[in-house]
Amino acid sequence: MTVRPLGTPPTSSASTDLLQRYSRVRQRTAALCARLRPEDTVVQSMPDASPTKWHLAHTTWFFEKFILERDAGYRSSNPEWHFLFNSYYQSVGPMHARPHRGMLTRPALDEVWDYRARVDDAVAARIARDDDSMLATLIELGCQHEQQHQELLLTDIKHAFAQNPLEPAFAPNAPRALSMAAPALTYLPFDEGVVEVGHAGDGFHFDNEGPRHRTYRQAGSLANRPVTNAEFLAFIQDGGYRDPMLWLSDGWAVVQAEGWARPLYWDDALETEFTLHGRREIDPHAPVCHVSYFEADAFARWAGARLPAETEWETLAADIPVQGNLQDAGLFHPRASTFETSLGQMYGDVWEWTMSPYVSYPGFRPLDGALGEYNGKFMNGQWVLRGGSCATPADHVRATYRNFFPPHARWQFTGIRLGTDR
Ligand SMILES: [Fe+2]
Repeated sequence: MTVRPLGTPPTSSASTDLLQRYSRVRQRTAALCARLRPEDTVVQSMPDASPTKWHLAHTTWFFEKFILERDAGYRSSNPEWHFLFNSYYQSVGPMHARPHRGMLTRPALDEVWDYRARVDDAVAARIARDDDSMLATLIELGCQHEQQHQELLLTDIKHAFAQNPLEPAFAPNAPRALSMAAPALTYLPFDEGVVEVGHAGDGFHFDNEGPRHRTYRQAGSLANRPVTNAEFLAFIQDGGYRDPMLWLSDGWAVVQAEGWARPLYWDDALETEFTLHGRREIDPHAPVCHVSYFEADAFARWAGARLPAETEWETLAADIPVQGNLQDAGLFHPRASTFETSLGQMYGDVWEWTMSPYVSYPGFRPLDGALGEYNGKFMNGQWVLRGGSCATPADHVRATYRNFFPPHARWQFTGIRLGTDR
């Protein structure tokens, strides 16, 4: 696979910026894939995960369907692929069943790279024409969408590699995080009062982040850092997975049905974990990850605390710059905190489960048309996570960003930050 410059040169500085933004995101995806062999890209290890090849094609389909096809004269080179690479947009046509994405040995990987190149050329030409007021908005949406799939690509290939007895390493030479003692767990208090949450201003945001609105925040506190592996190990050794009194009813049912006794990727001896670097010793100081909402909630109950509400998380994160162990750091694994007193690791390392169900904000309006299916229709049965992970691009996450997953999901880089009432 080679990365090549995109075709037609743009005509204005705004267009140049847009093409550069598009090109950077597409090339980042390609750079992640450069670590893989063709065979790696076809496997689907479970219905929730998708093959790398599918991610590559689906993100390309997104640009084709929602940008290039706005032009009545545009003709897709492979219209029959739209059925394969539509994910869940019912209003634009039927789609291949998600659990069967791993059955698609064709189109072959090189054909998918060619597809990406054709669409890249067409998008570059579209940007050069500079005659569509919606173009910049839609391309940014497509870039943010592709960044979401970069994270999924990483978590999905990690899950696929974990099924292989050879335990391949995605990034065998990635720099190792320095193991340092995590600071003592402390709770930072906040007052009650009317607060504002939700996105404001002109910057990019998904529809589910708005509108900005007032709400009431009860007094409480938020932990200075995420829960560590050592703390989660204490929960396990104290019988946390065997005490039904700690668990929500549905969570206890999953523990019984799936035999959960430790985070995903930990070994039976609770000494090593599978990572994107291969199997490694568990760092006791690093944030625990690959736990479900059910496990986060049970841990919090065991610890005499609770999970934070998303309002609490957002108002406390609002003034903290987005920096930390994000995808750009190239570690691809959570690392121990270096913060001593203030709120640390709010961004990066692990997505933090909140106690907030994923529902619409007051006055929420989904995007018009088919793109209204992007977020709004998933607002039931899922929980909000905040802050991004070691697999999230740094220019993709922000204080108002609302990620969401079902409560049993744990193949994402998901962890725990505690809060308390006051
Ligand atoms: Fe998607």
